[in-house]
Amino acid sequence: MSHFQPVARVPGDPILGLMDAYRADPSPAKLDLGVGVYKDAQGRTPIMQAVKHAEQRLLTSETTKSYTSGHGDAAFGDLLLQLVLGQDSPLLAGQRAGTTQTPGGTGALRLTADFLSHCLPGRGIWLSDPTWPIHETIFAEAGLKVGHYPYVGADNRLDVAAMLAALEQVPSGDVVLLHACCHNPTGFDLSHDDWRQVLEVVRRRELLPLIDFAYQGFGDGLEDDAWAVRLFAAELPELLITSSCSKNFGLYRERTGALIVCAADHDKLLDVRSQLASLARNLWSTPPAHGAAVVATILGDAALRTEWQSELDLMRDRVLRLRLGLVEALQPFGLAERFAHIAAQRGMFSYTGLSPEQVRRLRDESSVYMVGSGRANVAGLDEQRLGELAAAIARVC
Ligand code: LMR
Repeated sequence: MSHFQPVARVPGDPILGLMDAYRADPSPAKLDLGVGVYKDAQGRTPIMQAVKHAEQRLLTSETTKSYTSGHGDAAFGDLLLQLVLGQDSPLLAGQRAGTTQTPGGTGALRLTADFLSHCLPGRGIWLSDPTWPIHETIFAEAGLKVGHYPYVGADNRLDVAAMLAALEQVPSGDVVLLHACCHNPTGFDLSHDDWRQVLEVVRRRELLPLIDFAYQGFGDGLEDDAWAVRLFAAELPELLITSSCSKNFGLYRERTGALIVCAADHDKLLDVRSQLASLARNLWSTPPAHGAAVVATILGDAALRTEWQSELDLMRDRVLRLRLGLVEALQPFGLAERFAHIAAQRGMFSYTGLSPEQVRRLRDESSVYMVGSGRANVAGLDEQRLGELAAAIARVC
């Protein structure tokens, strides 16, 4: 008897699978606009200098490889809390917020999903349509009922009115997942005024917000990108935030992230945190240490922090330049207006508006790789080859 006989093969992950397909493509002209990693002018995903310097320090200063706690590295937790909520946040003084370190932002989402299904059973979760595909599966896998609110209209434009109308219909008590900035996959972010309106619906409908904050510093800057998170934290008694250090510290493979809980008071925070430690114990026991130690070293040292911030600023500026450059390169093909939204979007991604068929043709005919939904990782563009890409796009439009 074969025990594995009933096991069927499932398709590979569409985003990670693109990395493999790209690596296997022998074309020297290939272009990887798939998975969300930053690339420099040479097409490399570099280790940040601040990270290298922190690692050099850790090499000599680290004294143990014993387990961290269920909530991870305490220094990392405190410093990340300040980065996300702001040093002067009253939540810190009131001890109303706490960090649980997780393996990447994905781990934070997974822990959130388990927390909701164990501790708040029966709550549905509402995701933007579209959203990061793993949002869809992670909450469904944990047994939550997943619903959607519209985000982008058929014209590939942000549709806040439709979003607000849908949120008005969400059952009281349900969870609504919002992207703090650099919306994945569209790149369309809410304005401050839009956020205030969302806050009012969330408050009126007594919804529990979960803000996914995977790109702090990649949109308009570390502080600006945290604006909505801080607004919600100031205005609401309870909030869940998933934070990632993959992109802003370039620590992708170190799996460094956190679930931040804001509770009405310290005592309730401790209740929630006791559950999170218990749930995490059954998922990964204690989180991986290295990335968190790097982040804590950088954020805890004025010189390293300055170095890191200026590297992050350069990355963000480069992505913004690439956005403008691509729209400009599309001008000679009469496509600048059609793709003008690329310059207005923020973060790594652009929902280009290209159809799955056009994406397939770009890949087959020009070795340009992007996600089938038409999502392009702008941070993967090559400044010297924007004309080439524009010509490839023109051929399929
Ligand atoms: C992406 O959306 O490309 C990134 O967040 C990487 C991933 O894990 O999918």
